[in-house]
Amino acid sequence: MASLTIRKLEDDLKHRLRLRAARHGRSVEDEVRTILREVAEPASESAPSRTPADKTKPPRATASAPGVARVLLIVGGGIAAYKSLDLIRRLKERGKDRNLAVRVVLTKAAQEFVTPLSAGAIAGEAAFTDLFDPAGEFDVGHIRLARECDLIVVAPATADLMAKLAGGHANDLATAVLLATDKKILLAPAMNPQMWSNKATQRNLAQLKADGIAVIGPNEGEMAEAGERGLGRMAEPLEIAAAVEAMLKPQTGMLAGKRVLITSGPTHAPIDPVRYIANRSSGKQGHAIAAAAAAAGAEVVLVQGPVNLPDPPGVKVVKVQTARDMLAAVEAALPTDVAIFAAAVADWRMAEPQRQKIKKSGGKAPELPLAENPDILVSVARRKSKRPTLVIGFAAETENVTRNARTKLAAKGCDWILANDVSPQTGIMGGDRNTIQFVTATDAQSWPPQSKDDVAKMLIARIAAALAGVKS
Ligand SMILES: Cc1cc2nc3c(=O)[nH]c(=O)nc-3n(C[C@H](O)[C@H](O)[C@H](O)COP(=O)(O)O)c2cc1C
Repeated sequence: MASLTIRKLEDDLKHRLRLRAARHGRSVEDEVRTILREVAEPASESAPSRTPADKTKPPRATASAPGVARVLLIVGGGIAAYKSLDLIRRLKERGKDRNLAVRVVLTKAAQEFVTPLSAGAIAGEAAFTDLFDPAGEFDVGHIRLARECDLIVVAPATADLMAKLAGGHANDLATAVLLATDKKILLAPAMNPQMWSNKATQRNLAQLKADGIAVIGPNEGEMAEAGERGLGRMAEPLEIAAAVEAMLKPQTGMLAGKRVLITSGPTHAPIDPVRYIANRSSGKQGHAIAAAAAAAGAEVVLVQGPVNLPDPPGVKVVKVQTARDMLAAVEAALPTDVAIFAAAVADWRMAEPQRQKIKKSGGKAPELPLAENPDILVSVARRKSKRPTLVIGFAAETENVTRNARTKLAAKGCDWILANDVSPQTGIMGGDRNTIQFVTATDAQSWPPQSKDDVAKMLIARIAAALAGVKS
């Protein structure tokens, strides 16, 4: 059987082949195969599958067929790489309905933990490992890999991969693909807790988030190293698969094309370097709203105070400590179509936080003069420019819930207030359920007691209807 080397064809023919391949969204080699198949086979015969010999080599990166979602999974060199094999399986399992295909890239270090053979066998196509693979790079395979997918997932994302990505490096296949892509990226970091809390890693994380890269985890728990515990475990494969599903959802939800800003959690007002004024807000309601808005197709920015919750998938998260930081982050996120202020912002801060730890002195309690914090809800609701179409506040009350909410609505200039009774006996603050009094300028409704997730869904449906001009 004669063999054909595309590289040896005349330049003009190669050029025309490239153009034809690009028009059909195929690699040059696949284009040649298609032409040969068309010549050799009757039209009714189905396309041949790859031969067993083909399957031992990485295939050309080819465009997703219509109706097929393609995830490119980059596996970094960490202990959690073994979980990435389960992740491939979970992704394929959850993506069955939408024909989800998983293509795998292994870094050099990842191959110390898992083999290309096992990753390829589970994915159903050979894994990619080399940037300088002559077969793959004839038609610039790393660029095609970067583009011919719907989402790139890096799991585990090592400290090293995060640093390279934040710095724009491209000295191996994984980083070249990450730099060349125009697709969304989801990172699932996994590393030793010290590596995670290292200032360099946290700097890189902040940069990556600012660049619009989504991050899931890490979780808290046992490390592979004997006796180590802390924040650094990779999110579980099922959690990552769920985040992938959310990120792949076609942007056709109720809030598709809308930008939504949400604040969540408490704020901290420092007293001195070790003490602060805080409140019991858990951030659960704000996070649930952020997740529901993202699930409804909105582009979501969540400005969160210090909370102990994982970032909701598909949401840009900005972490702040103080009320003034929160106001700055909110203003930076504008313009948006909707702004929902679920954070329990401290009303007061120390007029002058002490630089050194305040010491006990002769039984006399220190005076702690307070200054009022900015009112974030008012400052957005009363804006002359860039005021969101809908400005929604929360009111945490312990008495006269509806009456106080009406007063607050008028005083703040917002459109809706969701008031809840946060007296300790209700269990709402920090709990998983909520009971809302929904107050507008013309209406007040009691929503039934329900989970915070259901409150979020109800609110999002109401927002979508209001933006669509439907009267309720
Ligand atoms: C046994 C072992 C386990 C490791 N586990 C991790 C890990 O969990 N997370 C991490 O960031 N680095 C880990 N490393 C270090 C990385 O393998 C190293 O930084 C490597 O350069 C990462 O390459 P990559 O980012 O290209 O995959 C580990 C190294 C060894 C030897």
